[in-house]
Amino acid sequence: MPSVFIKTYGCQMNERDSEAVAAQFVARGYTLAQTEKAADVVLLNTCSVRDQAEQKAIGKMQNLVNTAKKRGNEQLFGFLGCMAQSRGQELVEKTGVDLVIGTQKFHRTADYIDDLTSGRRQTVVDVEEEAGSEATIRDHIDLSALNESSIVGPAPQKVTGFVSIMQGCNQYCTFCIVPYTRGQERSRSIEDIVAECRSLVAAGYKEITLLGQIVTSYGKREIGTKKGKSAFVQLLDAVHEIDGLQRIRFTSPHPKGYGDDLAEAYARLPKLCESAHIPLQSGSDRVLKLMHRGYTRERFLTIIQKLRSIKPNIGLTTDIIVGFPGETDEDFEQTLSIVREIEFDNAYLFKYSPRKDTPAASMEDQVPQELREERHARLLAEVNAIADRRYSNFQNQRVQILVEGPSRRNASRLQGRTRCNKIVVFEGADRHIGQLMDLKIERVGSFTLYGDPAIVNL
Ligand code: 5AD
Repeated sequence: MPSVFIKTYGCQMNERDSEAVAAQFVARGYTLAQTEKAADVVLLNTCSVRDQAEQKAIGKMQNLVNTAKKRGNEQLFGFLGCMAQSRGQELVEKTGVDLVIGTQKFHRTADYIDDLTSGRRQTVVDVEEEAGSEATIRDHIDLSALNESSIVGPAPQKVTGFVSIMQGCNQYCTFCIVPYTRGQERSRSIEDIVAECRSLVAAGYKEITLLGQIVTSYGKREIGTKKGKSAFVQLLDAVHEIDGLQRIRFTSPHPKGYGDDLAEAYARLPKLCESAHIPLQSGSDRVLKLMHRGYTRERFLTIIQKLRSIKPNIGLTTDIIVGFPGETDEDFEQTLSIVREIEFDNAYLFKYSPRKDTPAASMEDQVPQELREERHARLLAEVNAIADRRYSNFQNQRVQILVEGPSRRNASRLQGRTRCNKIVVFEGADRHIGQLMDLKIERVGSFTLYGDPAIVNL
């Protein structure tokens, strides 16, 4: 039986796309290989958000292709996803891959591999734009084959499931390549999404994370606001009704779409976890405008105040870009000051990376690399100091976690998450996986809490 190995770069949506592609192969009788070396087909699902991510995937592929050549292996290699979409044919020339598939063609991956294996084609590059019909979206996220096939690869962890609710983005932030690689926004129907969530819950999943580039724009065109509730909140209401589902999360919202209806959903819907990843990008109104973000510093602060007034212990994380073109010392100080004011639990910091065909790439006043590095280091120190303080508040606290499976760092321990999205590691047994448990925090590490097994309710 041929085998496939898929490596994923970038966001959770890419993870989800890779799972769906794996499912296509499994449905055709392929096995999932544990390593690149052992696989007949090696696919890299790529990210284009920063240049670094692209270079990493290209370097990796060059190594793989060269090694296979040297050894005389007949492996097939392919790029999927955002970089495949934006670079296309160029990748064949640069790396010698057999296959390049864009973001709207994931559903054809296994067919193309069949064509290549049977010699019907020598190479395939398919990155054509396609009006994303709902059928295409549904097609490419069909997971059923994967759910039925725990015989191949490691048994999937069946505690937390991810469900794509939409594809694409219409925001056109001036730094961002995503609207060009993922296309226009298109949303699945509420019925479809609920049906997929139900089937995950029936298969034993306890928590569902709803995924989209900007989930707060979900169904704007297709569904619209009804009785003061945005389409996204209507969706949350519908998913919340599913019996047996214990927790709901979503990522990522856009501050622009964080209306009162969504803030109030945290008060109304007990399954909705008190946690939010809300990308800030900058604390300077001037830079926010240049970025085309559609909100001000003041508006962002108002959203945070509203959320904290409803759920004081809500876990809050964000993304910030430093060194956006034209960012002055004064602008950067504004970012430092809003970070100090809000006190996020964590912030993902990015040095601005010019992306092909985006407006910011050709703006004047590109910030020198050294200054980007310096600002990144200063902000990181601030973010980490705040996070350390916030995490240390959990010492000796009792928390409830949903146990997900083995700890990433030490497989002899288990890990779970609090409702506010903090990872907790503890000594437990396999039977705890999928359970909600109360633990006492005995030690606080870097972005990790350690639970006391003595008071685990066994
Ligand atoms: N340069 C640096 N960071 C970027 N991001 C998106 N585009 C760029 C870019 N050109 C960051 C944003 C976004 C996160 C996923 O990646 O902060 O929220």
